[in-house]
Amino acid sequence: MLPPLAFTLLRRLADGELHSGETLAATIGMTRSRVSQLLRQAETAGLALERVRGRGYRLLDATPFLDRAAIVRELGARGPKLIVEVADSIDSTNSELLRRAPRLHRHLLAAELQTAGRGRRGRAWTAVVGGSLTFSLGWRFEQGAGYLSGLSLAAGVAIVRALEACGCTGVQLKWPNDLVHAGRKLGGILIELSGDALGPSLVVIGVGINVRLPDAARRDIAQPVTDCATIGGAIDRNRLLAHVAAELALMLERYEREGFAAFRAEWQRRHALQRLPVDVSLPDGSVVNGKVVGVDADGALVLDRDGRRLRFVTGEVSVRKAKR
Ligand code: BTN
Repeated sequence: MLPPLAFTLLRRLADGELHSGETLAATIGMTRSRVSQLLRQAETAGLALERVRGRGYRLLDATPFLDRAAIVRELGARGPKLIVEVADSIDSTNSELLRRAPRLHRHLLAAELQTAGRGRRGRAWTAVVGGSLTFSLGWRFEQGAGYLSGLSLAAGVAIVRALEACGCTGVQLKWPNDLVHAGRKLGGILIELSGDALGPSLVVIGVGINVRLPDAARRDIAQPVTDCATIGGAIDRNRLLAHVAAELALMLERYEREGFAAFRAEWQRRHALQRLPVDVSLPDGSVVNGKVVGVDADGALVLDRDGRRLRFVTGEVSVRKAKR
C-alpha cells in the first residue's frame, strides 16, 4: 500500500529528471529521510528509481501519471459526456463502483494502483504504477442481464478500436474478453452487474491494459503477456484512457438501442481463434475440442465438433488453441 505522499513525490518525478532530496522534501513538507523511506516503498511497489549520490532521485521509465484534467480535456475533444474520477490507490475500481450501486451512470473511475485488482475466474489482476491502465466505467441500463450477455464482447470491440486509434495496432480478441497480440495477453475485461434480472441494472465494465510492463512484472504473471510499448511504441496513458472511455461510451449508447447484433460481425473479424481448432476447459476439469464457428447473437461461443454445433456461455469456461 503506497501512502498518498508517495504519489505526490512520484508525480513530481514523473518528468524523468533528477530531483534533489531537499526539493522533494520541500514538496511534501517532510524530512529527506521521510522522502527516502517513501521512495523505498515505491520501489517495493515495482517502480524503478535511480539514486544519484549527493544529487537526488530520478524515476527510470518515467511516464506521465494519470491526470484527471488531461483525461477530461481529451474526452471533451471526442464527445461523450462522462463523470471522471482518478484515484491514486484503491482496492479495485470494479469493487468501488459496485459498492456505490445503484447511484451511478456514465461514471469513469481510474486508479494508478489497485491493491486488490480482480481478474476473471477469481484470479488477481497484476498491474504496475505508471505502466498499466486500470479503470472501470459504470453505466445504468434499463434492460436486465439477459439483454447484456454480449456486452463484454462489444466492450472488446470498442477497446480494440481505441487502441488502434492510439497506434497500438494488430490487437485481437480472444473469447470471451481477452485482448491479445501475437498470442500474448495485452489486457482483459471484467464485467459485473448489479440490479434486477429484468432491469434496470448497473453495469460495471472493468478494463486492465498493460501499457508498459517492466520485466519484473512480466515475470510475476503466469501467462505470456505483452504491452502497448512493445506493439506500437510509447503511448500516453491519459490519451489512451480518454480514447478507450469514449469508444466504450459510444458502444454503450449503440448497444442500448441495437444490442450485440451491431457488433457481432466485427467481433468475429477480430477474433484471434476464429475458425481454428480449440480446447475448451469446463469447470469440472473436462476438456471439449472443436473448431470455432464464431459467436451467436447472445455472445456465446459456437464450436463445430464432427458436424455438431456446441455452444458455450461465458463464466467459468476457458478456451485455448488446440495443441494438436
Ligand atoms: C481478466 O482478463 O481476467 C479481466 C481483468 C480485468 C482487470 C480490471 S483492472 C480494472 C478493474 N478492476 C478490477 O479489479 N478488475 C478490472
